[in-house]
Amino acid sequence: MAEKKRILSGIQPSGLLHIGNYFGAMKQFLELQDENECYIFIANYHALTSINNKEELYKNTLEVAINYLSIGLDPEKVILFKQSDIPEVCELSWILSTVTPMGLLERCVSYKDKIAKGILASHGLFAYPILQAADILIYKSDIVPVGSDQKQHVEVTRDIAIKFNNTYGELLKIPDLRINKQTAVVPGIDGQKMSKSYNNYISHFSDEKTLKKQVMNIVTDSTPLEAPKDPDKCNVYALYKLFASKNEIEKMADNYRKGGYGYGNAKKELLGKILDYFGNAREKYDELKNNLDYVEKVLKNGAEKAKKVANETLKEIRDAVGLK
Ligand code: ADP
Ligand code: TRP
Repeated sequence: MAEKKRILSGIQPSGLLHIGNYFGAMKQFLELQDENECYIFIANYHALTSINNKEELYKNTLEVAINYLSIGLDPEKVILFKQSDIPEVCELSWILSTVTPMGLLERCVSYKDKIAKGILASHGLFAYPILQAADILIYKSDIVPVGSDQKQHVEVTRDIAIKFNNTYGELLKIPDLRINKQTAVVPGIDGQKMSKSYNNYISHFSDEKTLKKQVMNIVTDSTPLEAPKDPDKCNVYALYKLFASKNEIEKMADNYRKGGYGYGNAKKELLGKILDYFGNAREKYDELKNNLDYVEKVLKNGAEKAKKVANETLKEIRDAVGLK
């Protein structure tokens, strides 16, 4: 058996999660949980850069936790926790910020994207990648599974760790990125990257009526039903490929090419697949929504375990920089 690796990843509690989050990031957590030591958290400090309402932040925090548990993350195998239960990352973030060149942050596209979308250009948003580096480095993580939009942040983390090690000695582990190539960027209903903030998402835990609406709203061209169509130019087909078997995918592609098969037909098939694929998860989701005490208990247990590791690393770092 391959050696156990330490895996770490987090998702911001900034609203409903969608199938882009699932196929880009969360599915990787599921793939990794049996054979590795996984730390999966809810990045609520990071979410403060875009949410300034306490009820909303807390509701969204539980929403991510319920998502994690519903899709099948097993709290017996995975350490699930809230970022803010380990305030030690904020201290590490400060220490790392003192070795982080400004230019490294200035090059980050996510900051520019977010301010272009109207998020306040705060210092927290600018320094976001340093806190993310602290999240990763404090647990001495080997592998960080994420979607491709987080690639640059993991590269920044590596640069910061190297800079720290060059300054104070080889203390920090340099993490590797893990991206699922086939699902690195899941398209939204308009063909752009699926994202909460573009309002182009399909959420696997929406009620059936909303989910149906999201699927029916997938943008298609105006080729008439009878005419042959190019499957590779269609968002419905692109999303269907995430859920269907090889044979089913070929069959849908054939139907497109033959003609006499409309986008409405394809959407119905896609909806059926989503409901089927997430059937068990959706049941579990409804159950957990009514059992928040359990969800909070899982997060508290996870935090206790994560805190031990974080404290050990922070102690080494404090010693190394002279903060004894
Ligand atoms: P959003 O863009 O909806 O705000 P987040 O930035 O909170 O999503 O992303 C959480 C995780 O999900 C990250 O690992 C991110 O890379 C992944 N992810 C988000 N959207 C997609 C997508 N459309 N395709 C693939 N992965 C995605
Ligand atoms: N920036 C990530 C996102 O927007 C969330 C995140 C915070 C994260 N800290 C992390 C991801 C550490 C991986 C590792 O999705």
